Amino acid sequence: MIPINKPIMGKEEMDAVLKVIESGILTNPMPEGGPNCKAFEEELAAYCKAKHAITVNSGTAALNLALIAADIGPGDEVIVPSFTFVATASAVVLTGAKPVFVDINPNTYNMSPTAFKKALTKKTKAVIPVDLYGLPADMSEISEIAKEKDLMVIEDACQAQGAIYRGKMAGNLGDIGCFSFYPSKVMTTGEGGAVITDNNELEEKIRQSRTHGQVKGYDSVRIGGNFRMPEMEAALGRAQLKKLPAFLAKRAENAKILMQMLTGTSLKLPEVPEHSKHNWYLFTVKCASGSQREGLKARLLEAGFGVATYYSIPVHKTPYYAAMGYDQIKLPETEDAAEKVLSLPVNPRITEADLERMVGIIKKN
Ligand SMILES: Cc1ncc(COP(=O)(O)O)c(C=O)c1O
Repeated sequence: MIPINKPIMGKEEMDAVLKVIESGILTNPMPEGGPNCKAFEEELAAYCKAKHAITVNSGTAALNLALIAADIGPGDEVIVPSFTFVATASAVVLTGAKPVFVDINPNTYNMSPTAFKKALTKKTKAVIPVDLYGLPADMSEISEIAKEKDLMVIEDACQAQGAIYRGKMAGNLGDIGCFSFYPSKVMTTGEGGAVITDNNELEEKIRQSRTHGQVKGYDSVRIGGNFRMPEMEAALGRAQLKKLPAFLAKRAENAKILMQMLTGTSLKLPEVPEHSKHNWYLFTVKCASGSQREGLKARLLEAGFGVATYYSIPVHKTPYYAAMGYDQIKLPETEDAAEKVLSLPVNPRITEADLERMVGIIKKN
């Protein structure tokens, strides 16, 4: 099976992990972290052209810490898309605040700024736009509205490392940005994530909350948890970050080939606004109908192509959220996308011959 995504690890990663084992320093609970975390944070911040990067142990942890630092809690509302991975909304629920789901722009699959504006209430405290599939959300419009209302913008860039929006790196487009380094992502640390911010006060809060709100040890000044990235993961991350430009270049090349080969078919191809650079974490097409999607998916899987649907159940329709009454809300574009989208592999391992074979199957559909 040609996977939709799979980590690419080599000798550099093995050597880096071995060095950490030999050093005996596996973690550091102080706000500044261990030597690999510290170095990885500097390299990540430089990559994102951001003031601060704080490593954490997952993208979910990054979202949790962002919301803690933003002082989100009971009585607050946070606007989120429903067409995303569940973590975007669950991080809000875990603070005691209420997620308010809004619809997407059907061309980009990202949060519709118009829908965001319509959902504002006196209780709205923050918005979490998601850079879905690796395409930055419409951050200019969203940030403008948020600024007017004094809202915190938390960018869920968990899928978008390396993407660019109006000349700025994804992850550094809001007040706080969140990355995931889960193994399916464009680079990985096994599990892991990072929080990005230019704001010194938020950085301090996030660093402290990463280890139970501690500053010097056993002196919790705020709420937190254990959200630390282990040193071995940070060492992996450093090696992967060096390879990221080559990984992304190969993805872009594959996406370009697919775009050319699929032009003229009945599939709706990804649309990338002129001011954005996609990282091609996922190359997602939209079929004319749900039945066409299911038929095509079955044929491609049978032929060994690990195509996948992100996401066939929007968050508001998953059993937990449905039981809270969210399934009563109408998000027509989200529901349409959930029924018809299909992601095709463009990861750096796939060859042009594989892409040609995959397109051959699609064209027979
Ligand atoms: C959009 C989005 N948000 C949040 C997450 C959570 O990241 P993690 O799985 O690293 O906790 C992911 C990744 O899976 C994601 O794709």
